[in-house]
Amino acid sequence: MEIRILRGDIAQVATDGAVVNLFEGVTQPGGATGAADAALGGAISQLIASGEIKGKLNEVTIIHSLGRIPPRRMLVVGLGKREEFTLDRVRQVSATAAKALRHAGAKSITTIVHGGGIGGLEPGTAAQALVEGTVLGLYTFRRHMTKEADFGEVESLTIVERDVDKTPILERACTRGKIVAEATNLCRNMVNEPANYMTPTLMAEKAREVADAHGLELRVLERQEMQELGMGGLLGVAQGSREPPKLIILSHRGDPSSDRNLGLVGKGITFDSGGISIKPSERMEEMKGDMAGGAAVIVAMAAIAQLKLKMNVTGLVPTTENLPDGAAYKPGDVLRAMSGKTIEVISTDAEGRLILADALAYARKLGVSHLVDAATLTGACSIALGPVCTGAFTNNQELLQKVLEAAEAAGEKTWQMPMHEEYRELIKSDVADIKNVGGRAGGAITAAMFLAEFAEDTPWVHLDIAPTSFQDKDTAYAPKGATGVPVGTFVNLAQALASK
Ligand code: BES
Ligand code: MN
Ligand code: ZN
Repeated sequence: MEIRILRGDIAQVATDGAVVNLFEGVTQPGGATGAADAALGGAISQLIASGEIKGKLNEVTIIHSLGRIPPRRMLVVGLGKREEFTLDRVRQVSATAAKALRHAGAKSITTIVHGGGIGGLEPGTAAQALVEGTVLGLYTFRRHMTKEADFGEVESLTIVERDVDKTPILERACTRGKIVAEATNLCRNMVNEPANYMTPTLMAEKAREVADAHGLELRVLERQEMQELGMGGLLGVAQGSREPPKLIILSHRGDPSSDRNLGLVGKGITFDSGGISIKPSERMEEMKGDMAGGAAVIVAMAAIAQLKLKMNVTGLVPTTENLPDGAAYKPGDVLRAMSGKTIEVISTDAEGRLILADALAYARKLGVSHLVDAATLTGACSIALGPVCTGAFTNNQELLQKVLEAAEAAGEKTWQMPMHEEYRELIKSDVADIKNVGGRAGGAITAAMFLAEFAEDTPWVHLDIAPTSFQDKDTAYAPKGATGVPVGTFVNLAQALASK
């Protein structure tokens, strides 16, 4: 989709669909909506008076102009109550308007920035959210459908602004919004892709494409090198699969003179059957998405490179399948991780923490100064938080605070979970240094306690995205399936840590 900024009056632009807005309870629209109302001979205020337009959040009303003004359709989107207005609602209403116009056959969409003016948001922030909502909202995954969609594609988004002074701010905001949202959609594609189209090898190929396109350094460690490094966690999990494991390493040297280096680590289990501790078959197909953290790392690296952030960032993705076969690792096995710690395997289904143990240790060996990992790690985290929030865990409250701010700005709800030392007791093993399961109670926390053993003294945040990476229902700007969480959080964090 092409995105541009245009100075002028929305009611005078030739477009398939023009978008204006209304807060709930407003009877006399002002600003651009007022101008559109005047151009339409009072049609909008009449519909408000008759009660058809109420301004409720995500309400859409399409008025056909029938040649009276250059836009073929004028869409009025409801912003809800003014006092409840948020940046995330900008994303929501932008997505809702774009989907409604696509449904009506529009190829070109022209819009004002929602939330500037009486909405009280910064114009740049609001414009970025507008672009994000539009690009994310129009996402579909139809690669494996042979039948064409019954709607066309929106080809262009034009943002109209009357104030010429705002143009440079809006340009920058649009570029940023487009880069982040397109990266998020690419993450969704990777996560929605069936496991036979997203093996560890194909994941490494994707990383290669991204690296070549955006000038990132790429290294892929193969089994041989993992053996030399003693990566018993990753190798242990990979034993039961015929697909070779990979450790993907992408690097962006945005600030070569600095020794600060953000390590982003993502779980890349391209299919999680549970292994010998096999999962029930109901909904097992969703485990094609168990590489969501890894996909988010790869695309966030692409966005960070495109934004030329002045920060060194290293992305690491340990990737393998988790399958049962004659060579598979077994409950009771003891694995020796790269850091030297020994791990008793209680369940082969607690595989994510085993591959992350080695990736965290390797990141530390590379000399990262900050670590953030994202993993679809535990069903327990979904039980704790429901399908709304990512769970966040840390050994460093200051870094966690930055992650929470990055998440908030991205519209990716995130909630801190406890890490008291008492939980450490639950992963003590009788035969090894540590065991990979701490029981059902507090399962998300004991998983994090396990990872903490490998983050050691590096400031670290763990994001358990099991609740949020995949959704059962459509929401305003994400259809059912992969959400692309936490790409926005990663990019915003790298930006916050970058030298100005
Ligand atoms: N990939 C799963 C976690 C998961 C479950 C993600 C549902 C998304 C949706 C992870 O590898 C797993 O199997 N975790 C186990 C851990 C248990 C064996 C300690 C779980 O959550 O049941
Ligand atoms: Mn598992
Ligand atoms: Zn898993």
